[in-house]
Amino acid sequence: MSKRVTVRPGRALRGEVFIPGDKSISHRAVMLAGLAQKPVIIRNFLLAADCCSTLECMRALGVTIVSQPDGDIVITGNGLRGLKEPNAVLDAGNSGTTMRLMSGILGGQSFFSIMTGDNSLRHRPMGRVIQPLSQMGCRIKGRQQDKYAPLAILPAERIKGISYASPVASAQIKSAVLLAGLYAEEPTSVSEPVKSRDHTELMLQAFGVDIRQEGTTVTIYPGKELDPPDVLEVPGDISSAAFWLVAATIVPGSELYLRNVGVNPTRTGILDVLRAMGANITVVNRRESAGELVADLVVKSADLVGTSIGADIMPRLIDEIPVLAVAALAAKGKTVIAGAEELRVKETDRLKAIAQEFARLGAAIIETPDGLIINGPQKLGYGDCYSHDDHRIAMSLAVAGVTGGGASISDPGCVAISYPRFFEELNRLTNCVEALDHDPETDNCD
Ligand code: S3P
Repeated sequence: MSKRVTVRPGRALRGEVFIPGDKSISHRAVMLAGLAQKPVIIRNFLLAADCCSTLECMRALGVTIVSQPDGDIVITGNGLRGLKEPNAVLDAGNSGTTMRLMSGILGGQSFFSIMTGDNSLRHRPMGRVIQPLSQMGCRIKGRQQDKYAPLAILPAERIKGISYASPVASAQIKSAVLLAGLYAEEPTSVSEPVKSRDHTELMLQAFGVDIRQEGTTVTIYPGKELDPPDVLEVPGDISSAAFWLVAATIVPGSELYLRNVGVNPTRTGILDVLRAMGANITVVNRRESAGELVADLVVKSADLVGTSIGADIMPRLIDEIPVLAVAALAAKGKTVIAGAEELRVKETDRLKAIAQEFARLGAAIIETPDGLIINGPQKLGYGDCYSHDDHRIAMSLAVAGVTGGGASISDPGCVAISYPRFFEELNRLTNCVEALDHDPETDNCD
């Protein structure tokens, strides 16, 4: 794979984009289907590196996974207690969701397993899941006093239901505890400071589990086998749609129709913020699929103004901050992003990466301990920049390049983590991707 992609300022973005499957929901679909007793067909599964890590982990635990020629995936599990001990180390790759959610599932098993990941994942905090899972009776050990992977997960004897008040609004922590809660003898509750994405709760409900939400507390009542739907359709990922929303808003004369976008309210902070900045986005064709809201989005170019956002909205748009920085650079006035300290423990320290890499394109972004301050509008120039091997940084730099003065991005192959065909789509829409000798890391898991 080539180490560099160059994008030039692009033409207006017009036409349609079919948005690939939601990454969070794809992970959960494989995990829950793998714990069921009858085959589940998953439609529009995100065939990207992160979700393939989950597929491979579940396969190593004895779940049968078959890809159909039409792109559907059929998952056949052996029931809640039907996983088998893996005979090799499980590899979560770059995926925090795989490692944290699988910790909850593996913590409840009566066998031994080891889970590791790539260099980035081995430096991300795992104590935040090990701590509550240990309270439940899971026996999980990690490097540096149980803070980091690789993780060794010892056979569990008895899993207890707990009431856990998470200090961080994190869907991964909440989900790990709820999944372990499937194996507990009593109900388990998790509360969080602000409600994070609720895909686990909605999918558990679609699988017949008794799970109840009250404010920011969710309680799972375990005890019976999962009862899955025959077919699960994964909505498109609003975090992937966000790149097109920002690009089309900024480049004059653009109009895009984004098909099949998940609009679960715990994920639509980006729509609220872009609209508050003056964006022209219409939500049409609303529908529902397995408890998840889906729609099409129409975005037309518009002039933007700066805005302020803080901790309350952060869980609803945490993954969109890098591309929101591009919108803020194009907006007139000051944008203040606060309460975003979680970005420092993502695939890379995203606050630092944004400030550093956009500076190479001529932008002045002030990095604060928990956010960013951006005074706009700023005219970007051409520059050489680095993805930090972080998919969302790579795609945000590409949007900055196309909407600004161009960019040459090193290590762009990381887009395969969540959007393998991103550069092909960008080129189709803007005809501005030069030297595309990066090889999209296939759209399958083999
Ligand atoms: C995710 C939750 C979020 C998000 C991540 C995916 C999930 O992380 O940033 O990309 O699928 O549950 P946190 O739970 O750490 O906030």
